[in-house]
Amino acid sequence: MGKYIIAGNWKMNKLPSETYDFVKSVAEATKDASCEVVCCTPFVCLPEAVRAAKGTHVKIGAENLHFEDKGAFTGEVSADMLLDLGVQYVIIGHSERREYFAETDCTVNKKTKKALEKGLIPIVCVGESLEQREQGVTMTLITNQIKAAFEGIDAAGAKKVVIAYEPIWAIGTGKTATAEQAEEVCAAIRKVLAELYCDKCAGEITIQYGGSMNAGNAAELLSKGNIDGGLIGGASLKTADFAAIVAAAK
Ligand code: PGA
Repeated sequence: MGKYIIAGNWKMNKLPSETYDFVKSVAEATKDASCEVVCCTPFVCLPEAVRAAKGTHVKIGAENLHFEDKGAFTGEVSADMLLDLGVQYVIIGHSERREYFAETDCTVNKKTKKALEKGLIPIVCVGESLEQREQGVTMTLITNQIKAAFEGIDAAGAKKVVIAYEPIWAIGTGKTATAEQAEEVCAAIRKVLAELYCDKCAGEITIQYGGSMNAGNAAELLSKGNIDGGLIGGASLKTADFAAIVAAAK
């Protein structure tokens, strides 16, 4: 299946002044990693994160970008700005951005296309709310989110995208999806990708699980055939916890 990637999503945590030492500690604690290790940090932490990751295996990502190249978009950050810093990954369409910052399937698609055009690796987030799960519309919703995110993207581009399946009800709640629930949706996502592109192409795309993944549950989730890594929020803020998840990704 896809390349294993464990990515931390710091969200709005940690200060620029804490970043260098923390990323260095992650690099040290994960130096034997057999997967890709990524720290996605707030914009203002990125310069220090990139400086700390230099010469190590750790890659740095942003948590958002704007889909236009430049111009009158007060408060926004472009792909070129991220690339200029040495950033390689970018999270797109996290459920918190969809909920609090009016991100839609349409902006997710535009941002994904811009990231690919510029050579950033997009981590595209999809996931259902508890209400949607209880209504039995999870698969329909996820299928629609995936189709919309990949609209207008060819197979060569699609293979570079990382997908993070994050059930909203499991994010930051301590309520992890069971490995079976996560695998069921990740397998469905791969099926949609196979229909959009081809089996081989779908097999090469990394599909992560995210939502209260931690040192205790990572191994079981990552043992599933269609789960190729994790997008880690809370547990990415402590080196030992994050390193334990990385160690579980074999
Ligand atoms: P969590 O967050 O690990 O704290 O649940 C995951 C995410 O939102 O990416």
